[in-house]
Amino acid sequence: MLKRLIEIVGKENFTDQLEELVPYSYDASINVHRPDAAVWPESTEQVSEIVKFANEHKTPLIPRGAGTSLSGGAVPIQGGIIIDLSKMNRILEISIENRYAKVQAGVVCDDLNRALAKSGFIFPPDPASSSVSTIGGNVATNAGGIKGAKYGTTRDYVLGLQVVLPTGEIMQTGAYTMKCVSGYDLSKLFVGSEGTLGVITEVTLKINPIPRHAMTAVATFARLEDAGKAISQTMMSGVLPSVMEILDKVTLKSIKENTDIDLPDAEAMILTETDGYTWQEVEAQMEVVLNIFNQNHPISIKTAKDEKDRLDLWKARKSAYATLARASHSFVLDDVTVPVSRISDLLLGIQEISRKHGMLIATYGHAGDGNLHPQILYDEYDPNQVELMEKVEEEIFDLAISLKGTLSGEHGIGLSKANYMSLEHDPVEMALMRKIKRVLDPNNIMNPGKRALDK
Ligand code: LAC
Ligand code: ZN
Repeated sequence: MLKRLIEIVGKENFTDQLEELVPYSYDASINVHRPDAAVWPESTEQVSEIVKFANEHKTPLIPRGAGTSLSGGAVPIQGGIIIDLSKMNRILEISIENRYAKVQAGVVCDDLNRALAKSGFIFPPDPASSSVSTIGGNVATNAGGIKGAKYGTTRDYVLGLQVVLPTGEIMQTGAYTMKCVSGYDLSKLFVGSEGTLGVITEVTLKINPIPRHAMTAVATFARLEDAGKAISQTMMSGVLPSVMEILDKVTLKSIKENTDIDLPDAEAMILTETDGYTWQEVEAQMEVVLNIFNQNHPISIKTAKDEKDRLDLWKARKSAYATLARASHSFVLDDVTVPVSRISDLLLGIQEISRKHGMLIATYGHAGDGNLHPQILYDEYDPNQVELMEKVEEEIFDLAISLKGTLSGEHGIGLSKANYMSLEHDPVEMALMRKIKRVLDPNNIMNPGKRALDK
């Protein structure tokens, strides 16, 4: 294996050294397993040769972007070869007149946006990890983020892909046009496929003009129900805020204790933003939002006066994940998502599960698109706590499904949610997913052991 892989990518782009393989054993979830080797291909042709070789020898292959997955998607659970695409990081074409950008899979999301900003354009989905996450990874996981309600997720911007199939064949999908109904939509089959169907090597993305203005406000509430109502009433009011984030009491307490950010005692805080191409448009939308907040018994409402003020208001939300990571030995971070009108039910249900089991759960997330992040805080060194955490997680999944929601709005199934897929998908759908996997990848080399697809 060593000899052939070095032949393909060169000595400098191959490793089987322990200290280099250990970081590839992890992503941002709790799953861990070490690969046997890692390669850094520099071209699609090299990827194709690697895949052909792995397919011939039935060796697991795990495509990897920045490894920020929160569900174990990038963890090589059966060993094998990591294909790290970070060296394929060229922006191939930016066509402002045709509203698309074509990039290699390893381009970092923020790097693309910096390049587009020079022409006043943007790739709108805004995952929390955009400073390091790669476009290939964003596509493979259908990354979402804080702008989902107004601007959709990665899926909505993929015009076409170049994919290396598990046979090593190179396939081009989609078109360079804003519209295309020619053939089955194979691009979208690969969006969110988490490396189980092939290796995404190039992506053509639709781009948007950057909204010129944005206005930010924060409101706090003494009752979760009021915050939930404020959110669902806003989302049906006729204006569409670009941001509608919620942070619950446990999250606020952790931020307060671990930073110098001054926060009021409240059950919930909402951070909202309206955006547009004129100030008038932005202000008119914010007026509607704040009126609705005012009708739902807020403790306080604060609007940013300038850019510094705006960044200050954002500070609490941005520090949620890091301060909570510090607050306990271990944590599991989920991304259950429900229809927006059920957001109060989800918030209260999670609180009830936490109370019932005496397990601390901090909840925050993208309330405007019904996507919450319950972060279960526990101790992985205590077997009782591990068992309880699993029970709590299953109850949260059950709750989301009972509210007509989904297990995962943006973090993916990976390993963490593989055992729960049948809660959401009926046997007919699961069987078809498995058939698709077998047709494309009969030797099950692509990211095996994930999503209950090869069971
Ligand atoms: C966030 C990640 C956890 O929204 O999805 O911060
Ligand atoms: Zn998120």
